[in-house]
Amino acid sequence: MNSLAIFASGAGSNAQKIIERFQSHDAIKVALVVSNKSNAGVLNIAEKAAIPTMLIERDQFFRGDGYIPSLKEYKIDWIILAGFLWKVPDMLINAYRGKIINIHPALLPNYGGKGMYGDFVHEAVIAAKENRSGITIHFVDEHYDHGDIIFQAHCDINESDNAALLASKIHRLEHEHFGRVIEETILGGSGIK
Ligand code: GAR
Repeated sequence: MNSLAIFASGAGSNAQKIIERFQSHDAIKVALVVSNKSNAGVLNIAEKAAIPTMLIERDQFFRGDGYIPSLKEYKIDWIILAGFLWKVPDMLINAYRGKIINIHPALLPNYGGKGMYGDFVHEAVIAAKENRSGITIHFVDEHYDHGDIIFQAHCDINESDNAALLASKIHRLEHEHFGRVIEETILGGSGIK
């Protein structure tokens, strides 16, 4: 069994989809939901699905053990970042090298890096009058939004679109693809489309 920890800071709509996908999967399960925000919607989603949750705090994450012993206790094999807004410390990246997957709401390498998350990304894309944006699913390395890209999908932007409309287009793409791409990456499926 491949055990996943989902890290998320917000509403958790991506986490919800992932939890649903793997609810009765024979090779993959969501074993833990981790958040840095005590009021994050994702914690309610996890509780409803009877998945253990872990609230993490800054000092232990960045300057302590990085919660690596706790993740090992839960026998976590893969970490999925689904709207997680803290940078992952090097110690944790080393402990889970090649096993941390992030979703970014734009077409990297554009519109990535520090401060580029959530609605800030969509606002920047609209302000630049881009005619398309999309999602990037990638492995996490020591640099912001930088690791090897696993999958991208794009959507068109119309002249009348605003950041909120773009956000909903992006969420639709994320919900459509993220779970499948996680599954294919973990199980080594060929031909990720
Ligand atoms: C998603 O759009 C995800 O791509 C983005 O946060 C949103 C979380 O939505 N992540 C980043 O911006 C990371 N840099 P959700 O809580 O509804 O899943």
